[in-house]
Amino acid sequence: MDNFINQWTPSDFNDHIDKIIGKKVNVKSIEIAGDGNMNFTYRLRFEDQGSIIVKQSPPFCARFPDIPAPEARIISEFKYYELATKNDYLSDHSPALLGLDKANRIAYISDLGSATDFEYLYGQDKKLDKVTCQKLINYLISLHNLNIPESVSFDNLDMRKLNHEYIFHLPFLADNFAIDLDTVTNGLEKVARPYKIDPDLKKAAKELGELYFQKTRILIHGDYYPMSWIETNKGLFIIDPEFAFMGLPEIDLGVFLAHMVMSNNFALAYNTINEVYGDYDVSLMAKFCAVEVIRRITYVSQLPLLNSLSFKSELLSISVTVLKTGKIDLYENIDCISS
Ligand SMILES: Nc1ncnc2c1ncn2[C@@H]1O[C@H](COP(=O)(O)OP(=O)(O)OP(=O)(O)O)[C@@H](O)[C@H]1O
Ligand SMILES: [Mg+2]
Repeated sequence: MDNFINQWTPSDFNDHIDKIIGKKVNVKSIEIAGDGNMNFTYRLRFEDQGSIIVKQSPPFCARFPDIPAPEARIISEFKYYELATKNDYLSDHSPALLGLDKANRIAYISDLGSATDFEYLYGQDKKLDKVTCQKLINYLISLHNLNIPESVSFDNLDMRKLNHEYIFHLPFLADNFAIDLDTVTNGLEKVARPYKIDPDLKKAAKELGELYFQKTRILIHGDYYPMSWIETNKGLFIIDPEFAFMGLPEIDLGVFLAHMVMSNNFALAYNTINEVYGDYDVSLMAKFCAVEVIRRITYVSQLPLLNSLSFKSELLSISVTVLKTGKIDLYENIDCISS
């Protein structure tokens, strides 16, 4: 049996499930579970109609095998679910853990059924509804208030170092040409150029990047954006916590808000945070939000945003000031930009 599950046959999975979960199954089909890049994530259907999701984290990016990736990330993901599902609200919004093969980096989780993520929000045809927005923030409230036992450490340092490069460092280099922004939106290269050579902006990103490594006792999801939220016929679920660690909660809030900014849902999201979340550092959240907007528009982790140069220019220009100043209110005008 090959170490990587993309080479496995149904009978390999039958044996492995028996060994890891202690359950006799007859795998009928192996399907890609949904959109994803980093891992091998499959839906296994059984002869008797049941199904299961299997996820393996190879020491490279599953879709781009030339790109190395920290291979213990599935262990962090599993550990996150183990901690989070102690809370009823988080448990109700998480898949169930069914088995883990630590040595081969393979996890089994419950199949939530056919699901759609929230990528459609970027198209701006449909707004995020208030009830879902509240649920998304309630999830963060439950998560950030979890009591993590003193014996638990959760650094996920390799994944954090990887993310740190792509969020706080590489997007702010004048001589990094990993992406031609004009192929994304004509004229964007010229718009982004001044920001790539702005020493104050680079300094602000660097300083914020240091806080990304700050240790706390607060568990955060670490990648709280629309592709980690899925809607199923059993309701809303939050998945893919492979970037989780114990750090500043404003990172989750800021990333959440950044995607609300980019999908034109800022006012709803920010007002709801203020209504229900409780205390947080607004300036810090603003900066994490801004850096996420900047890197998504000007670097390689692109999203299907509204492909309008004026929309992106406006978002960038505001985000640059927000990253330098921490003034979240500057985003208040964004709702008018594309409407
Ligand atoms: N438990 C589940 N039940 C149903 N569908 C799931 C489940 N887990 C994952 N999926 C589907 O598979 C897709 C990919 O899963 P996931 O995001 O965990 O993989 P990934 O390789 O970490 O992706 P990425 O490269 O975006 O980080 C999800 O968007 C979802 O559609
Ligand atoms: Mg992932």
